[in-house]
Amino acid sequence: MHYIAENIPREVNGKIWAALIAPRPLALISTQSASGVPNIAPYNSYAGLATYPPMLGVSFSKRGDEDKHTLENIKATQVFVINLVPRYLAEIMNQSAEGTTIEDDFARLGLTSVQADTVNCPRIGECPASIECRVTSIFALPPSKCEFVAAQITGVYLRDEFVTEGGGFDPMAADLLASVGAEDYLSLNGETLHLPKTWG
Ligand SMILES: Cc1cc2nc3c(=O)[nH]c(=O)nc-3n(C[C@H](O)[C@H](O)[C@H](O)COP(=O)(O)O)c2cc1C
Repeated sequence: MHYIAENIPREVNGKIWAALIAPRPLALISTQSASGVPNIAPYNSYAGLATYPPMLGVSFSKRGDEDKHTLENIKATQVFVINLVPRYLAEIMNQSAEGTTIEDDFARLGLTSVQADTVNCPRIGECPASIECRVTSIFALPPSKCEFVAAQITGVYLRDEFVTEGGGFDPMAADLLASVGAEDYLSLNGETLHLPKTWG
């Protein structure tokens, strides 16, 4: 089988790319609005961009013609936190994608807000690792409607129980979750999960 990209049916398009560009790292991105309302949502279009100094980037699609809250908050504050998702937070991760209203997502999801060390932004206390980021550039990705945020990593929190002898991080012990399709996930301990989409 072969598709010409522009002929891929719309209902299949997202599923194909979610399944082909996989496994993907999965993060809950925490941000806050200019007025201080905290927001949490899952994102997997992110990648490491550089290691010295460390940088990463995240791609955002639109909700209709509007920026998603996470991108809106990033544009307003220039900072965000990438919180890595362990298996035991899978269902909460999926619920977190529902939020189209502006409300405190820590309260909505029952998660603990902890002030990040190097950026003025909350991180998620339950997550095994949190990467604190400051924006270096934001640019459009024509011909798509997506925007790409590149950021410098200013700090990283690692929960002590997952720190290795040499001072690194053990992703297997943290049982991190990866995306392997539009609604499918794989934990690093080998469990597969199907969590139906809760967002439009
Ligand atoms: C596993 C998963 C990964 C996602 N990854 C992305 C992504 O990389 N980029 C994106 O724009 N939306 C992504 N989404 C959709 C957003 O999470 C969703 O639109 C959410 O409502 C955005 O919330 P916000 O407006 O609070 O930022 C993903 C959803 C899920 C469940």
